[in-house]
Amino acid sequence: MRRAKITIIGGGNVGATCAHWAAAKELGDIVLLDIVEGMPQGKGLDLRQASPVERFDSNIIGTNSYDDTAGSDVVIITSGIARKPGMSRDDLMSTNMKIVRSVSEQAAKASPNAVYILVSNPLDAMVQTAWKATGLPTNQIVGQAGILDTARYRAFIAMELNCSVEDITAVLMGGHGDDMVPLPRYTSVAGIPVTELIAKDKLDAIVDRTRKGGAEIVGLLKTGSAYYAPAAATVQMAEAIIKDKKRILPCAAYCDKEYGVGGYFVGVPCTLGTGGVENVIELKLTDDERKMFQASVDHVKELVGWVEKNWSAA
Ligand code: NAI
Ligand code: 2OP
Repeated sequence: MRRAKITIIGGGNVGATCAHWAAAKELGDIVLLDIVEGMPQGKGLDLRQASPVERFDSNIIGTNSYDDTAGSDVVIITSGIARKPGMSRDDLMSTNMKIVRSVSEQAAKASPNAVYILVSNPLDAMVQTAWKATGLPTNQIVGQAGILDTARYRAFIAMELNCSVEDITAVLMGGHGDDMVPLPRYTSVAGIPVTELIAKDKLDAIVDRTRKGGAEIVGLLKTGSAYYAPAAATVQMAEAIIKDKKRILPCAAYCDKEYGVGGYFVGVPCTLGTGGVENVIELKLTDDERKMFQASVDHVKELVGWVEKNWSAA
């Protein structure tokens, strides 16, 4: 059986950690591409040399050439700058739009049938950038944010209840910003609504900490942003696609009529399989939830408006 081929663009913290998780799970052969010469080759070789000890059979190479990425099944895009203390994700826009536009154009020429998972920030606007740059069908373009944000939310709930993270399921919607929308009404602990287990003030504090979860890590690291949890979340998406698992996961997916969004990529629950985003699930939201979701979508639209305005100058 042919092994899946996974290209990871950007061999920095998130990209290299994605390579690590994907190799450890034997998801397929891995190509790690970066603009810096030698670095992806060194990391690829180092990871390959871990395989006899960790017992995984994946070919891992590092490269600076898109020729080596040809025919990939999944392409993960992590290239770009990360934020430092005091910066918001939106502050990365101008630099990352140019990088994401250029790498997605080149990758799509080599792998027109791949599913593209965007990670670079500001996430929702970078997904739209990759779509515009590649011209690929919307089901082949998806962004990682919601799995990371729900993972943070689930970890904080488990810490509060002193229970297993495995028993917590949650839904979170909207853009990957401080206005993301965790939905306590759809959060359960082994089937028990979380609202019956955690008092409202404590749950509100958890939601607030989740919204600021990225900034909390940036404040601690000082030199960059989170990468273990973001990479684990991204590889979960790659696994769902490669194994055609039809997982229902919160991802930045294209919504037109869905939720009345009108043609933008925003965080919604969707089904991930070989076809990429195979379905967007429409939940019935309360008036308050819909208002929060709309505010988050409006923010995404503003960022995408910036991309559209500056496209020809980039
Ligand atoms: P990093 O600085 O460690 O790595 C970025 C890599 O991109 C560097 O190795 C750099 O050489 C490479 N790069 C830059 N321009 C390139 C080009 N034209 N072609 C190929 N490679 C290029 O940064 P890190 O921590 O890996 O973060 C990467 C991005 O992911 C950032 O924009 C960050 O904000 C975002 N991020 C998004 C998350 C999400 O949940 N969506 C979570 C964590 C990070
Ligand atoms: C995060 O949420 C930086 O977006 C990244 O950690």
